[in-house]
Amino acid sequence: MQIEMKGISKAFGKNEVLKDVNFSVHGGQVHALMGENGAGKSTLMNILTGLLKADGGQIIVDGQKVKYQNALDAEHHGISFIHQEMNNFAEMTVLENMFLNKEITNKAGLLDTKTMRKQAKEVLQRLDADVNLDAEIGTLSVGTQQMIEIAKSLMNDTQILIMDEPSAALTEKEIDRMFEIVKTLQKQGVGIIYISHRMQEIFQITDEITVMRDGLTVSNYQTQDTNVQQIVKDMVGRELDDFYPERHPNFGETRLKLTNFTQKGVFSNISFEVKAGEILAFSGLMGAGRTEIMRSLFGIDPHDSGEIEVNGKIVKISSPSDGIKNGIGFLTENRKEEGLILDATIAANIDLPSIDGFVKHGIIDQKADDDFVDMLIKRLTVKATSRNNLAGDLSGGNQQKVVLAKWVGSGSQILILDEPTRGVDVGAKREIYDLMNELTDRGVAIIMISSDLQEVIGFSDRIAVVYEGTLTGEIPTADATQEKVMTLATGGKLDE
Ligand SMILES: Nc1ncnc2c1ncn2[C@@H]1O[C@H](COP(=O)(O)OP(=O)(O)OP(=O)(O)O)[C@@H](O)[C@H]1O
Ligand SMILES: [Mg+2]
Repeated sequence: MQIEMKGISKAFGKNEVLKDVNFSVHGGQVHALMGENGAGKSTLMNILTGLLKADGGQIIVDGQKVKYQNALDAEHHGISFIHQEMNNFAEMTVLENMFLNKEITNKAGLLDTKTMRKQAKEVLQRLDADVNLDAEIGTLSVGTQQMIEIAKSLMNDTQILIMDEPSAALTEKEIDRMFEIVKTLQKQGVGIIYISHRMQEIFQITDEITVMRDGLTVSNYQTQDTNVQQIVKDMVGRELDDFYPERHPNFGETRLKLTNFTQKGVFSNISFEVKAGEILAFSGLMGAGRTEIMRSLFGIDPHDSGEIEVNGKIVKISSPSDGIKNGIGFLTENRKEEGLILDATIAANIDLPSIDGFVKHGIIDQKADDDFVDMLIKRLTVKATSRNNLAGDLSGGNQQKVVLAKWVGSGSQILILDEPTRGVDVGAKREIYDLMNELTDRGVAIIMISSDLQEVIGFSDRIAVVYEGTLTGEIPTADATQEKVMTLATGGKLDE
C-alpha cells in the first residue's frame, strides 16, 4: 500500500495550521513525522484518517484519489490510528474495548463472547501480551493500554498504522517491547507513521524522516543520511547549542523535608529533603511509586504516617488546598485528567492557583491578570492565537506548557514537576530547562520526576531513586551514570 498526501491545507478559524504539506508512506516502512509542538502533525493524521476534513490538497492511495468521510472509511482501507491521548473508557473491560462498535453477534443477535474472546486472545498472543480480558481498562498500566490499542488495530487488517507519540508514557522495557512489535509489523508489510519527540528512538527505528514547520513540509531524508543536529535545525529553524543548560546552583535553606513518609502498601519510610535553589530528580521505573509519594505530599491522596516539614516547620497536609497553602505546586503527569480543564480557556487554566493575587477589594484587576497570563504564554512559547483559546484545542505539547505555566505563575516555593517535558518538542524543552534554572535562582526548590534518564542526569543536582515504594538511594548528579541509576531503580545496590 502506498499513500500520498499532496498540498494539504487546513485552517482552524484564522489559524492556518497546514499550508502546503506533502507526505507519503508505503507498506514495510517506518516513517517519522517530526515538528515542533503545534506544527500540525496530529492534525495531518486526523485528515489522513477522515477525522478532519482538509481545506485543500489530495490524498492518493495506490494511485487513486480518495476522500475519507469518516474514520470508519479509513479503517476499511486498512488505516489505523493510535492517538496521542488514548481515549479509552476507563470502566470498560479489555474485551468490551477491543470490540467497541465491532461486537460480534450470533444468529440470535446476542453477543458472541466466546468468539470475541478467542479472537482477542489470538491477537494479543501475536503481541506476546498477557492481558486479562475482563480487567477494567482504567486499572491497567499505560503500557498495557497501549498494547491493547495496537492489538485493536491489528484486528482491522491494518496496512498503515499511525502511532502518535506511542512511547511518551511507556517504561524503557515497554518501549523495547513496542519496538519489537513495530519491527514485526514492518516485516509483515505494514507501513508505520511514527510521531515522537524522542530523537534517539527516531534514529533507532525509522527509515525515513519528514519534518514540518510553520505549516509546510521543510525536509525529507532517509534516516541513515541525516543526523540529530540536522533534524533539530529543520524543526526549530535554527541551531540549538548544548541541549541541557548548565546548572549553577546556589543552595539556601531546606525548603522541604520528609521523614518516614508512609502510605501502607504503596510507599514506606520515605525520607528526603530539598533545599531552596535545588533540583532534586526522582528516578525509577514506572510504577515504582514516585507519583504516589508526590500525590500524598501534595494532599491529593492520604498518608498513614511520617512528617512533612516546610521551611523548618512541621505542617499537616490532607488536601491539595493544604498543599497550595504551604507553597507547594504540583504539575501532574496526567495533564488530561488532572492538570487541565479542557473546555476552559488558556487564561482560566493558568489563573486557577493565582487568581486571588489579582483580586483587590473583591474586584479582579483584569489588565494585570491579562498581562500576567500573556507573559507566561510568551515565556513558555505556548502556540495559540489568544489567551482565550480553549485548552482542549491546543496540541498535546502545548497543553503541557499551559499546565506548567499555571504552576510557574502560582509563585510556589516548592514545585513538584511530574514528567515536565513529556511530549514537549526539543526547542520548548530547552525553554523549560531555562525556566527551571530561573526558578531555582529565585530560591524555588524543584522536585522533578522524570523517566528520561538522560534528562535526569543532564539536568538536576541530586538524584533520588525509588524502587517498589522505597528510596533505594541518592546520588549527587555530578557522580551519576545511567548504570548507577538503573542499578538502584531495579532494586540493586551500589558498591562503594
Ligand atoms: N480542534 C481544533 N480547533 C482549533 N485549533 C486546533 C484544533 N486542533 C488543533 N488546533 C491547532 O492546530 C495546531 C496544530 O495542532 P496539532 O495538534 O496538529 O500539533 P502537533 O504537531 O500534533 O503538536 P504536538 O507535538 O504538541 O502534539 C495547533 O496550533 C492547535 O492549537
Ligand atoms: Mg500531536
